[in-house]
Amino acid sequence: MATATAPTLAEIQEARERLDGVARATPVYPSETLGRLSGRPVWLKAENLQRTGSFKIRGAYNRISHLTDTERGAGVVTASAGNHGQAVAWAAREAGVRATVFMPEDAPTAKIEATRSYGAEVVLAGHGFDDAVAAARERVEAGETFVHAFEDTVVLAGQGTLGLELAEQLVPEIETLVVPIGGGGLAAGIALALKELRPEIGIVGVQAAACAPFAGRAPAGNTIADGIAVKTPGELTRALLADRLDDVVTVTDAEIAGAILLVSERCKLTVEGAGAASVAALLAGKVEGSGAACALLSGGNIDASSLIEVLRHGLTRAGRYLVIRTRVDDRPGNLALLLARVAEERANVLEVDHHREGMDLPVTGTEIELTLAMRDEEHCAELLARLDDEGYSVERLQ
Ligand SMILES: Cc1ncc(COP(=O)(O)O)c(C=O)c1O
Repeated sequence: MATATAPTLAEIQEARERLDGVARATPVYPSETLGRLSGRPVWLKAENLQRTGSFKIRGAYNRISHLTDTERGAGVVTASAGNHGQAVAWAAREAGVRATVFMPEDAPTAKIEATRSYGAEVVLAGHGFDDAVAAARERVEAGETFVHAFEDTVVLAGQGTLGLELAEQLVPEIETLVVPIGGGGLAAGIALALKELRPEIGIVGVQAAACAPFAGRAPAGNTIADGIAVKTPGELTRALLADRLDDVVTVTDAEIAGAILLVSERCKLTVEGAGAASVAALLAGKVEGSGAACALLSGGNIDASSLIEVLRHGLTRAGRYLVIRTRVDDRPGNLALLLARVAEERANVLEVDHHREGMDLPVTGTEIELTLAMRDEEHCAELLARLDDEGYSVERLQ
């Protein structure tokens, strides 16, 4: 049995009034590059620029602004993969309410630190969102209010304000809105408003392939899209989305990494895994139709260290980063000779590793590993062919 009911359009409109001056109206604009690469016009809704770095402030602030004086005195408890916790911590601090946030032990450091910096007590428990919810439910004390990330009427009304905003911002030619789905609160809130105000716009949900219950798949490991890695969606959100979503598609981590790279390099926006899933789906051609689509960039909270890894991975996949290993005779000048060939092909050397010991190497041999910045996959192929012609036996490393 669902524990909450759907908010009405009037309740979503009321939430928007409460959020006035709190949540930003984030921009919507077209991206020529993403349009070219997807083969259809693509617009972005940059909710990664929202206060606290994701759309979650909308639902969290609305919920906390509804607490009675007694409830405010007792404090709130929540469980979150990270963004909802940050948003609850921020809204609770503004309202002078004590907040305890349960997060998975493997939550990104940036999200844990931001939540603490807003003054909440952070408790790390288990792995993933579902474990954090179970731990929080066990520890919530009498009088404290549990603020669920999606199975809550007032939270859904807050997320629904994005639907109101989009109904005004989306230009008439936009046919499809692409939205990431975790527990389903974001998509359900948006759909409640948008399907009433702009019913002609199709809504396509995107899940990470490793965790896609809305696509009917069993969980299959970790994903870089931690914000949407929810194994058990809400009953209410599931019911609401059953007849409001036009499709649900999944994207792989490699596709998400490529989208993060592209959005960062070409659109100058930092997005986290969940935030890039919508763009990943469009780039992979997984969203049906050829008309204009708007991708919701739902959040931008990614650790700098994860961002480096993801960019490295994305660059390697795009053929912009090449790691090769070869062996040469251990004679003065051989390394310089190899580097000269690389320079002639206009590849830029990022790292050189030169191994002589501890390997399965002949006494007179040395192993050289090069990390190179390349133009694209074609450039990689040209360099590999050239080295082959020159007699080098080259292994390409992933
Ligand atoms: C960045 C981001 N995008 C999308 C979602 C999905 O929202 P929902 O769980 O309401 O489906 C989340 C949820 O935490 C998120 O943090």
